[in-house]
Amino acid sequence: MKVALVGGTGKTGRAVEAALTRAGVETHPLGRAAFADLAGALDGSGAVHLVAPNLHPDEPSYVRSVLDAARAAGVGRVVYHSVASPYVPAMPHHVGKAVSEDLVRRSGLDWTILQPCAYVQNLLPALRSGELAVPYAVDKPFGLVDLDDVGEAAAVVLTTPGHLGATYELGGPALVTTADVAGAAGVPVRRVDAEPDTHPWLRAMFDYYDEHGLPTGPVPLAALLGRTPTDVAEVLARELGWQELPALRPGIG
Ligand SMILES: NC(=O)c1ccc[n+]([C@@H]2O[C@H](COP(=O)([O-])OP(=O)(O)OC[C@H]3O[C@@H](n4cnc5c(N)ncnc54)[C@H](OP(=O)(O)O)[C@@H]3O)[C@@H](O)[C@H]2O)c1
Repeated sequence: MKVALVGGTGKTGRAVEAALTRAGVETHPLGRAAFADLAGALDGSGAVHLVAPNLHPDEPSYVRSVLDAARAAGVGRVVYHSVASPYVPAMPHHVGKAVSEDLVRRSGLDWTILQPCAYVQNLLPALRSGELAVPYAVDKPFGLVDLDDVGEAAAVVLTTPGHLGATYELGGPALVTTADVAGAAGVPVRRVDAEPDTHPWLRAMFDYYDEHGLPTGPVPLAALLGRTPTDVAEVLARELGWQELPALRPGIG
């Protein structure tokens, strides 16, 4: 079976593509140009992995257009890449995913929904700069997840039975704080103000993180992978090329 990856030329899509390729599955990564004739682009695939662009102004319309194209192309299976805690009224882009999940569940297609927490990889540019400065409190809990694990989980649901009609929250193995991550990386951590030109939806997300973080459980991801999800220290060592695992001492959980 060939899997069409809508949004597949981005960061998430590349992780899913790599995992599917390792599993011996043919992929068809699609970027924005494919939307000129999406049904044509999906023709011949057996499943669609659907990722929306970051902060799409109308994610439900984007998702509806992909679901319509999948039906027109005779593709019966969809995996929708949502987010952890989609129904958070204080975060408009999360709500866009909650509404999109409803469209997916009522699409008539065979669906699975993945709800990943924020990726550990999001913090790498700041860590490489030598300081972890974030526009929210550094002591709030996150279930930061390895993007490679997310890709592997998507490959599992696309290649093994038992995942139709399932919604899986995808969190790392333990709740960690931004201060924990900085400590493991040996860099200073600091709360800063958001840049003045920050997108209002990102600002809303930072305000939510400031109060609540984004706690996300590890159990569904562990079940999909058949192992403990990769912890933050292992991701940092792998991505930053360290020879030894840093000590990560979560202050929470
Ligand atoms: N980062 C996280 O921690 C995290 C966690 C959970 C969920 N998510 C979700 O993951 C998704 C983003 O993933 P990403 O980081 O992989 O994004 P990305 O690297 O920016 O990739 C975006 C993809 O969408 C395509 N695209 C961009 N604008 C488009 C448009 N107007 N119409 C159609 N396609 C368009 C891009 O194609 P081109 O190559 O042609 O530009 C690319 O394939 C978002 O929905 C985000 O909310 C992220």
